[in-house]
Amino acid sequence: MSTTTADADAIRAALEEFLPQSSPYRILHHTINKADDPILHTCFSLIEETSSAAYKASSKGWHPKAKQREMHEEGMHYLLLLPKPASATTKLPVSPPPALEPQEMAKQLLGFLSFMLTIDDDVPVIYIYEIHLCATVRGQGLGRTLMECVDAIGRGTGMQKAMLTVFVSNEAAVGFYEGLGYEKWDEEYIAPVRRLRSTRKPADPAEETRNPSYIIMAKDLLDVKSTVSHGQDTRMTLSDTPESDGWETDD
Ligand SMILES: CC(C)(COP(=O)(O)OP(=O)(O)OC[C@H]1O[C@@H](n2cnc3c(N)ncnc32)[C@H](O)[C@@H]1OP(=O)(O)O)[C@@H](O)C(=O)NCCC(=O)NCCS
Repeated sequence: MSTTTADADAIRAALEEFLPQSSPYRILHHTINKADDPILHTCFSLIEETSSAAYKASSKGWHPKAKQREMHEEGMHYLLLLPKPASATTKLPVSPPPALEPQEMAKQLLGFLSFMLTIDDDVPVIYIYEIHLCATVRGQGLGRTLMECVDAIGRGTGMQKAMLTVFVSNEAAVGFYEGLGYEKWDEEYIAPVRRLRSTRKPADPAEETRNPSYIIMAKDLLDVKSTVSHGQDTRMTLSDTPESDGWETDD
């Protein structure tokens, strides 16, 4: 699904709500504008560092090329966590921090979250693909802040649900998501959602069914007043499924 001007405005508006002026961090919205994006290289390295072991231990395996392909999919959005220059937190009047070149952003990156606005079985969904923070900035509420940005973006763009996939073995992340109101997605709904996120079968489907290495978690975004009328959202009429995902093979 391509990003509309309304989506871009809603994303910008949502980000403005988060992180006070005094925070030493800032969150920037990023989309891929060239194949060889240095920011995505750093994001990929973070995924590799935090999660490749869990991928390898799962029935899906670790497939770097497939993961990179997924990261470059059209419609993928990135929220980048960066340090704010000290002058931007103290100086008055408030002036926006200077713009950074992608190379510099890549060097400074402290974490990121990637998501897509999509439709699954007529339900508008904001799908979180990745959230990874450098070890030095974990446990300070920044992961929660990024996830709250996603809620605000989802509501602002008319999405009904927020969804994600997490390895069962990543108990810390499962606990983190549960604390944010995510619940394991009902079994009866797993089939359509798997179409969204897992277009290829695991190496051993029977074993994956008996003993799944990952779960899908979801959160309803409609329990708080939405800012957009879903009935009028043109995306409701679109059928849009990502072409691939990180569970694929490198073939
Ligand atoms: C998972 C991750 C994104 C969380 O971000 P974070 O900044 O460390 O988490 P926060 O400090 O924002 O914590 C938010 C809340 O989650 C809770 N939480 C964090 N870890 C938890 C755990 N293991 N069990 C239960 N709750 C947990 C915190 O207590 C906090 O609750 P509070 O706000 O009520 O105090 C981060 O630790 C990370 O990048 N981990 C490595 C990569 C990874 O596993 N990503 C997930 C891939 S699916």
